[in-house]
Amino acid sequence: MEHFSIHGLKQKRRIVSLRSWFLLSWFLVLISPSVASRNNLQVQKHLKRLNKPPVKTIQSSDGDIIDCVPISHQPAFDHPFLKDHKIQMRPNYHPEGLFDENKVSDGNKEKIAQLWHMNGRCPEDTIPIRRTKKDDVLRASSVKRYGKKKHRSIPKPRSADPDLINQSGHQHAIAYVEGDKYYGAKATINVWEPKIQQQNEFSLSQIWLLGGSFGEDLNSIEAGWQVSPDLYGDNNTRLFTYWTSDAYQATGCYNLLCSGFIQINSEIAMGASISPVSAYRNSQYDVSILVWKDPKEGHWWMQFGNDYVLGYWPSFLFSYLADSASMIEFGGEVVNSEVDGHHTSTQMGSGRFPEEGFAKASYFRKIQVVDSSNNLKAPKRLGTFTEQSNCYDVQTGSNDDWGHYFYYGGPGRNPNCP
Ligand SMILES: *[C@@H]1O[C@H](CO)[C@@H](O)[C@H](O)[C@H]1NC(C)=O
Ligand SMILES: *[C@@H]1O[C@H](CO)[C@@H](O)[C@H](O)[C@H]1NC(C)=O
Repeated sequence: MEHFSIHGLKQKRRIVSLRSWFLLSWFLVLISPSVASRNNLQVQKHLKRLNKPPVKTIQSSDGDIIDCVPISHQPAFDHPFLKDHKIQMRPNYHPEGLFDENKVSDGNKEKIAQLWHMNGRCPEDTIPIRRTKKDDVLRASSVKRYGKKKHRSIPKPRSADPDLINQSGHQHAIAYVEGDKYYGAKATINVWEPKIQQQNEFSLSQIWLLGGSFGEDLNSIEAGWQVSPDLYGDNNTRLFTYWTSDAYQATGCYNLLCSGFIQINSEIAMGASISPVSAYRNSQYDVSILVWKDPKEGHWWMQFGNDYVLGYWPSFLFSYLADSASMIEFGGEVVNSEVDGHHTSTQMGSGRFPEEGFAKASYFRKIQVVDSSNNLKAPKRLGTFTEQSNCYDVQTGSNDDWGHYFYYGGPGRNPNCP
């Protein structure tokens, strides 16, 4: 690898004659591949930062490589504020919900899990990390943008500014609560594998915990499932998290792709494929996601399913969320990249409209929020929002079994969404 210093070159330039300038230009032509290798060097350096040396490696059948990395060597500890952080191995507090999650008739007969489990498990005191490959980074617009959302994409219900809710092709079908201080949220999310038309689009279903007004300093914690060919190189449904403390600008990322989230769980890998997924008029699978604030330390914890406490976002990452969330949103988001003036046929949820109902349309059920008494409660009022209900829609309801729920999603392009 040539090391090529612009500065050194400039000094030399001053003393070379015209003739050698001519030779030098040839030299520059000859070494121009080093620009490529410098990019390559940048990619390699980034991969080295992200991929910590594992004690064990598991090959997953979807092509992922899962590295079991000692818990104290995870990417979070590259953060200057976390140098002396003492890992909390368990939350001080866990909110109790309205539903008995161990009820046999409820939930999936077959437990939903991650595909790589078929090929091994990580030892205790390690965490499973999906290895970032060179191609993953090269699919991003730049090394710096890898693992970050491209645009501000938070739906702002009832916004007066249409540009703000219709930006960059991001479309949503959500239910939300606002007007209080919130300390967490929980929902059981139906899992599907929506079709994505264009490689640069995505489709996700998630919970957003939002702090602050919708300005440049918006704080957000997000968790759910997504299909994102750009981020993962395939069309699989994957568990993901996201966080930002400045409206998607400089801070935050997906999963463990920057330092921030501290993982304590050795069984679940962020960004790994979820399996099985639901099928139309057939078996349905869902997974509960809980995010809550530890009232003692102030960290935001996340739980996947009933069994897996994944870890936490330290309170210091945030400004508004260091106190509480001011709004919570649940639902779907897609990117529509408008090909030849048409809406793309990228699906949200199952790709079916809400009115089709169970085993056809995708749902969120048992929607609950953590209030200032630190208990999970039914939301007082669930608002709904969608930019274009002819493309993707949402319908709420409630009953004894499911508590507050909604069906959401749609096919994207169709005769009413041209
Ligand atoms: C968003 O954009 C679409 C197409 O450009 C338009 O039909 C729709 O009315 C817009 N929605 C809002 C809420 O402004
Ligand atoms: C993902 O799906 C699209 C169509 O929906 C297909 O064109 C593409 O080949 C798929 N990609 C992979 C990696 O399977």
